[in-house]
Formats: sequence, structure tokens, C-alpha cells
Amino acid sequence: MQVKKAVLPVAGLGTRFLPATKSIAKEMITVVDKPVIQYVVEEAVAAGVREIVLVTHSAKRSIEDHFDVNYELEAELERRGKVKLLETLKSIIPADVCVVAVRQGKALGLGHAVLCARDVIGDEPFAVLLPDVLIDNEEQKNNDLANMIQRYEENNHAQIMVAPVPNELVNQYGVVALKAEAPKAGESKAMTAVVEKPPVEKAPSNLAIVGRYILPPEIFSMLAETKPGAGDEIQLTDAIATLIDQQAVDAYSMTGKTYDCGSKLGYLQATLAYALRHPEVGSGFADLIKQYQ
Ligand code: G1P
Repeated sequence: MQVKKAVLPVAGLGTRFLPATKSIAKEMITVVDKPVIQYVVEEAVAAGVREIVLVTHSAKRSIEDHFDVNYELEAELERRGKVKLLETLKSIIPADVCVVAVRQGKALGLGHAVLCARDVIGDEPFAVLLPDVLIDNEEQKNNDLANMIQRYEENNHAQIMVAPVPNELVNQYGVVALKAEAPKAGESKAMTAVVEKPPVEKAPSNLAIVGRYILPPEIFSMLAETKPGAGDEIQLTDAIATLIDQQAVDAYSMTGKTYDCGSKLGYLQATLAYALRHPEVGSGFADLIKQYQ
């Protein structure tokens, strides 16, 4: 079955990026000239997703507004003959893509956030994209999410994107166990277990979940039964651990780069990478940073 829907859990508080995120949604912080969330939506759309389900919070309305029509602004740009800007605004969401928002009233964890999208997703496989993480596939011909969807559509195995992290960081991630060695970049292999934020001495590997998932609809009944785990939150990782007992679940090894835009340094790194190749400001920016070396 085709994967046409994606869940983007955007209700999180963004405490790692305070004070910037006191009154601005962390997903609305800009990398060069677009909010982080727009890159993530573009990644999903490029992979063939046609329905974006934002799981959001009352304090984060600006995210929904960004993907809605701003009629006043468009009319004003039209009146002033600003055709290019108008096009930029209209192309934020292609005409055949829809954005739906559901609320996560209580901050009970990532697993709970995904469960909030159950009625909108229904009985279909779907993608989950964590909005803090930018996946940069500039140097590849396919995006990693598209590869994962293709893999799911071939064999119906859930696909979980992973990448190696230094041992001292495994306690910040979901960490997977595999039967044999890690899959090569762009390939998948069956997982035997997964554990959320293990202490380094208990981590089954150094392969961390990056924040992209292709999941079957059966995950919802498992999420509904999942008790709070690490950090006293309902963890998506714990429901995936249950799924592994019933269905094949693959770890997909990413080909691109990741930037953690929920952290200050990760965000700065993304800004450097995306600014240097930006068609409008790239060469000016390259000149500019020479002055700071
Ligand atoms: C979440 C997931 C974790 C994953 C991580 C990737 O954790 O629970 O399994 O490895 O995202 O960024 P969080 O960073 O929200 O604590």
C-alpha cells in the first residue's frame, strides 16, 4: 500500500533552544530564509507524501498559519506587482498537498503525539518526521525518506532511519539492535530490538534513530497500550519494540547528513550549510564568513 500521509509532531516546547523559543515555536526558527518546519514538509512532499498531519499545541498556531493562505498579504503583493514574492508564498505548499492539524492537549511524549493522529491516518501506513531534525540529501539523487517509502512498498517492513553516533551520546537517542552488522548506507536490515535512551553500558549498538519512520497502522493499537517509559513519557520507541515481536521492522541506514536544529550548535551548522549553497546569498555568504576565520 502506498505511503501518502506523514505525521509531524510539533507540540514540543523547545526547551533546548530557550530563550529563543519562549514565544516562538522552535519549528518556526529560520534557517536562512525558511522556517525549519518548511524544510521538513518539503522533504516529505519530495518523497511523495500528499497529506501532512501536524500534531500541534495551542501556543504554536504560527505553524498552521505558515501553511495556510495569507490572503491579505497575497492581495497586497499582487497589487504592488511583486510577482516573484507571490510565487514564493504560493509554492510553500503544492496545490495537491493538504495540511491537517490535530492537537496534543497534554505533553505525554512522542508516542502519545503520534497516537493523536490516529483518526486522520486511519488504516494506512504512514511516515513520521521529527521536525527538529533536518535531513540533507543535497548530494544524493533520492531523498532518504523516498528510499524508505520505496522499501516499505516493496516488502511491507516498517522502516526506521538510523545513523551511528559516538558512544557517549547513545543515551540521548532510541538505539537499535540488529542480528548482524549495520546495513550499508541506503540499505535496510531487520532489527531485533530497540531501546529508548539506554545508558551507554546497556546500549545494544551505537546506531541511533534519527527521526524518520515509516510505520504500519498496527502501531496505533500498540501505542494505545504503551505505558510511560524513559523520561516518564509514552515513547514511540517502546511501541516499535512491541511491533518487532509481531512484524518485521527494518533499520534503514541513511545516506545524507543530519542537523539537529533543536540544539543551538546543530542549528548554526545547518545555517552554514544551507546558506553557503543558497542561490541568492550563497556566494555573498561565503565571502562574509572568510572575515570570521
Ligand atoms: C526522539 C526519539 C528518539 C530519537 C530522537 C531523534 O527523542 O524518542 O528515539 O532517537 O528523537 O532525534 P527526543 O530527541 O525527542 O528526546
